[in-house]
Amino acid sequence: MKILIVEDSKINQYIARDTLLKYEIDCEIDYATDGEVALQHIYDKSVDLVLLDIIMPKLTGLQVLEHLRSSKKSDIPKIIMLTTISDSTTLKACFDLGASDYIKKPFEEMDFISRINSTFREIENERKLKQNAQLLESQNAKLIQVNESLQEAQYHLVQKEKLVAIGELAAGIAHEINNPLAFVISNFTNIRQYVDSFEHFTKTIMNKVDDPALTFDEFKILASNLWEKSDMTFIFEDFPELITDSQKGLDRVAKIVNSMRNFARLSDENYFEYVDINELLEEVFIVVNNEVKYIATLEKNLSQCPPIYCNKGQIEQVFVNLIINAAHAIKGHTYAGSGVIRVETIPEKDYCIIMICDNGSGIDSDNLNKIFDPFFTTKPVGQGTGLGLSISHNIIVDKHQGKISVESQFGEGTCFKISLPYSHEVSTS
Ligand SMILES: Nc1ncnc2c1ncn2[C@@H]1O[C@H](COP(=O)(O)OP(=O)(O)OP(=O)(O)O)[C@@H](O)[C@H]1O
Ligand SMILES: [Mg+2]
Repeated sequence: MKILIVEDSKINQYIARDTLLKYEIDCEIDYATDGEVALQHIYDKSVDLVLLDIIMPKLTGLQVLEHLRSSKKSDIPKIIMLTTISDSTTLKACFDLGASDYIKKPFEEMDFISRINSTFREIENERKLKQNAQLLESQNAKLIQVNESLQEAQYHLVQKEKLVAIGELAAGIAHEINNPLAFVISNFTNIRQYVDSFEHFTKTIMNKVDDPALTFDEFKILASNLWEKSDMTFIFEDFPELITDSQKGLDRVAKIVNSMRNFARLSDENYFEYVDINELLEEVFIVVNNEVKYIATLEKNLSQCPPIYCNKGQIEQVFVNLIINAAHAIKGHTYAGSGVIRVETIPEKDYCIIMICDNGSGIDSDNLNKIFDPFFTTKPVGQGTGLGLSISHNIIVDKHQGKISVESQFGEGTCFKISLPYSHEVSTS
């Protein structure tokens, strides 16, 4: 520690120095005999503790304190006043101006040393505190940085999860569209042949109508033979069926495309509207159909709920996540062909309840409280990101003030229950 003794009396300087030496106080000592020199020393050199006389030539101790205070110097040393004055008003003024203690003159050894020691401890503690505060500050800055990069990473992962989901679904959707399209195309090949046969039949008949060599009976036989040969009875039966079938196929393609278009509107996350949950579920069923149909039967028990004020794309994403999870849980289980995913809607007073239950693998009770955590997955590396349920939880609870809960029997199946408020005011009350 560095001590500056500011004292105009040489005798007092010596006494102070000798006492410090006698008690082996670990310090470097400098001296000043008036206020001006003292101030200069404090500004120019580093000092930890100043022993400051009050009555001195040029500047008094009080004036030195005033100077220091108005200087805005950031590292003002600790100051102990040295005083013969027992005038409490002056002492109070010293404390108000920043002095931390006082020692009475003539010095009493024990009093002198113990005050110096306790001030040293104070200086030491303040240093440690400052260091800790600096450390905390830099750790805090690092944490903010880490937090920012984590948020960015999470954003990218969420985007990736969406892309993976859309990618997986897109393959299924292509298949879904391909089926009806394939039979519409095959129907049209038949329709083309029928039209050709019909054209051939009509043209042949029309050519014979005006043939004077033909009697009416001969014409009738010819027409009847041609009718048989051209398979016209079958064509007339099959033709409307082909048209109806093709119509159905094209309707299905239109429906799938429409569902996909609605699903793709996911991006507008702040757009809320009143939505019929059952209609939305029907769209979801089309989107997930290909993922589910070879694994499980989709049982629907939909009761009419009043419209829900929600972001359609996000709620759709939740249902898709849950149904696909259910399909995966059934696929990994031994229910060959007997998998069931039951989707139920139940109108309650303030909430529409949506149950999505399966008879798949169930969830181990140890994992039950982890499944909504981001990145929790029991799927093999590279197959699940473990974000589906955490995103769903965020959408239902944070974005829609709803609830989501799960019940599961390991080995038997799982039920997710979603409660969506009809209006957000109800749920917050
Ligand atoms: N219906 C269910 N039956 C059994 N386990 C389930 C079911 N739904 C979720 N889980 C468990 O919860 C975990 C987390 O599900 P989540 O949807 O968040 O991620 P994931 O399906 O593993 O991966 P991702 O959805 O990102 O492809 C799953 O790995 C699975 O262990
Ligand atoms: Mg999932």
